[in-house]
Amino acid sequence: MNQPDKHPAMIVRDPDPFNAEPPLGRLRQSFITPGELFFSRNHGSIPEVDPDGYRLVIGGLVDRTLEFSMDDLRGLPREEVTAVLECAGNRRDGLMEEAPIPGETPWGAGAISNASWAGVPLREVLLAAGVEEEARHAAFVGLDEVEGEDGSFNYGGSIPLEKALAPEVLLAYEMNGELLTPEHGFPLRIVAPGYYGARSVKWLSSITLQKGPSDNHFQAREYRLFPPDATTETADFSAGLMLGEMQVNAVICEPVDGEALEAGTVSVRGYAVAGGGRNVERVDVSSDGGKTWVQADLREGADEPWAWSLWEASLDLGAGEHRIVVRALDSSATTQPATTAEVWNFKGYANNSWHGVRVVAR
Ligand code: MTE
Repeated sequence: MNQPDKHPAMIVRDPDPFNAEPPLGRLRQSFITPGELFFSRNHGSIPEVDPDGYRLVIGGLVDRTLEFSMDDLRGLPREEVTAVLECAGNRRDGLMEEAPIPGETPWGAGAISNASWAGVPLREVLLAAGVEEEARHAAFVGLDEVEGEDGSFNYGGSIPLEKALAPEVLLAYEMNGELLTPEHGFPLRIVAPGYYGARSVKWLSSITLQKGPSDNHFQAREYRLFPPDATTETADFSAGLMLGEMQVNAVICEPVDGEALEAGTVSVRGYAVAGGGRNVERVDVSSDGGKTWVQADLREGADEPWAWSLWEASLDLGAGEHRIVVRALDSSATTQPATTAEVWNFKGYANNSWHGVRVVAR
């Protein structure tokens, strides 16, 4: 097994396939998440790819099929984007408290990280191949092998063509100024800012322009949002909403749940995300479970559409128990639902209910 070189404090949810998230206090320490603390989400093996033999193939509804080596790609225009990646399963643990979600990774609120990515805008290679008129979606396939019911297959997913042609979507070969590490997709991955991480396919081997979305398992059956009454047995897999743009969300990283504090002025810190290019406009924090609110100060990232926003608030806490909660408002004036009951779904995706911690002040 290819064991990633991660910080010892990482919470390993599964050693193989490797799935790990950082503790929230460490995650909140820097606007750009260092590679060793960046969450890692894998459905299969982490492939070892020889960069010299590597080729990316662009085909489907294009005027000409093209093949690129890493050298070819490095010769194309290079762009940098600071973008947050959030797994659609981030905060699933909160939904699991509402009702069981068997067979899914119990992610805390650390299945999210923010990096500076560099690479070739996807639109450069698509325009070089020539986009045919009927093309509506760009489908990606990775080189990793995922074990399925009928044998192994490659991870894949797609994004609408309109997003694929947007300047922020990268064929990324660098993360935080260094080559991608194996677990983050070396030598090349998609970074689709503003979309849930599932669409940022790692170890990218091919891009196909097509009329419909990808029929890969991870687009056709997983990463879909089903109504609250659907179950594994009853779900109509063609009817769930294919997850794309991230939703507005906010999380308290410090203090942590259950922490004992000194009564008086307490600093509360966390992250917030919008999604789809929207900004985080406001972050509200409450020390009485949501009856009254104060405004947090938005720190780094608030004016960057693809990055996360870090925030900080001061609360006056008297002696006793308090439930501190947070909610954000994005630039479409959308805010977060109060309870997990409002967003529960049997796959445990997209939990953006108010995040809270219980603390005791003495
Ligand atoms: N790409 C491939 N090839 N295989 C995968 O398992 N996981 C996806 C996405 N791209 C995945 C993939 C999911 S669900 C997420 S959230 C992000 O990668 C996680 O990216 P990271 O591991 O670099 O944090």
